[in-house]
Amino acid sequence: MSSATHPLITTVKSLVDAATAPTAGLSGAAAHGKFPLAGGPDGFVGSVIDSSTSLIAAQRHDIVRFGMGAPAAEVIPTEELKALAGEALTVESFGYGATEGEPDLIEAILGLADSDGAPTSAERISVTAGGMQGLDLAFKLFVSPGDLVAVESPTYTNGSATAFAYGADLLEIPMDQHGMDVDAFEAIVGELDRVPKAIYVIPNFQNPSGTTLSEERRRKLLDLAHRWGSVIIDDDPYGDLRFSGEHVPSFSALSPQDPQVFSVRTFSKVIAPGLRVGWVDADARLRTLIGNAKQTMDSCTNVPAQHMVSRFVTGGGYADHLARLRREYHARKDAMVAAIGRVLGERARTTDPEGGFFLWLTLQGEDAGVDTEALFETALARGVAFIPGAALSPSRQFRNAARLCFASSSPERIEEGVARLAGALDAVGQRP
Ligand SMILES: Cc1ncc(COP(=O)(O)O)c(C=O)c1O
Repeated sequence: MSSATHPLITTVKSLVDAATAPTAGLSGAAAHGKFPLAGGPDGFVGSVIDSSTSLIAAQRHDIVRFGMGAPAAEVIPTEELKALAGEALTVESFGYGATEGEPDLIEAILGLADSDGAPTSAERISVTAGGMQGLDLAFKLFVSPGDLVAVESPTYTNGSATAFAYGADLLEIPMDQHGMDVDAFEAIVGELDRVPKAIYVIPNFQNPSGTTLSEERRRKLLDLAHRWGSVIIDDDPYGDLRFSGEHVPSFSALSPQDPQVFSVRTFSKVIAPGLRVGWVDADARLRTLIGNAKQTMDSCTNVPAQHMVSRFVTGGGYADHLARLRREYHARKDAMVAAIGRVLGERARTTDPEGGFFLWLTLQGEDAGVDTEALFETALARGVAFIPGAALSPSRQFRNAARLCFASSSPERIEEGVARLAGALDAVGQRP
């Protein structure tokens, strides 16, 4: 089949032509006048998730926040970081740092990789401003306008927006409870006249679905990537936050030093997102290119923040810190699944993640026809926020679904938020 018109492929042009209606106040599309813009900016679709932060900040009433994927304020190690900031704020750290990252942080990252069973080496590591810069570097390196990029469906909208920004055509691959359906992927690509240049995958506790890609499927995805010459962009911010089930080996553990695996990591979910520290782990031969690309963005990552993170990771309490996060997020996930079961019953089904921050809710039965973008406005007015499903699909599928973040709210607030959600559903749905 010609890939130009395939139903699972969304191009930047089709997005611009459709001028897709954003959720109230959650605009991802830019309205621009007569500026001498380059050809690319029409593809800057932005992120509904990020826009929701500003939207919610502007509200005056109490809102339970199931929208943004923010760590719980209670588990951000604020006091420890304040103390470490005192040590990290030196005259040296107020200067420019090395583009590839501060040596002490790279050392700390190598230690983490070792304990994860996927050893790496300093020449493979480049420190970034969070996971987002890692994704930007990945798509910048591998994608030219018109290249095909495969993504999970649904996917993380910031990742797909970044691929669009480099002119990618996005191919959505269906998922089930074991993650991306790699057999379907093979069959879909078999029908096309081209293969994906890059495969963007979030293997653990996927954002937004909460599902984990099985080991068997990871192996098959590696095979497909090798056959097609594609790079796997392995985006894994949540892998350390497994609170139940069995660890699944990473792509790097399954295929060590694989030049076709580009790993994007971040400390945002396990320490603090405001620090903006992450890294990429990629073939050493790419490091100069990564450095060149980063030098045109920010020269180097915030130096004091890197020193704070490296001290926090190596200070001796990191394993306990992670254990605390896992306990806390496990309790919150359980609270959300239980509240949804109790309050919404047969009106909704959800995934039941073994880690991470999110679960995926699908309305069903009499509520199967409710559009969660329409529900969003009512829900916000009633004091609960979430991310509508269509915002997490380039072709805007999943109109009756939503991403709910269980990590940010206490179990009591989760109860309250789910009750408000049910109230909003009653107001817009077919119930009296
Ligand atoms: C899957 C995924 N990738 C990347 C990121 C971005 O991470 P950071 O905040 O470190 O830029 C996030 C944050 O929500 C995410 O969920």
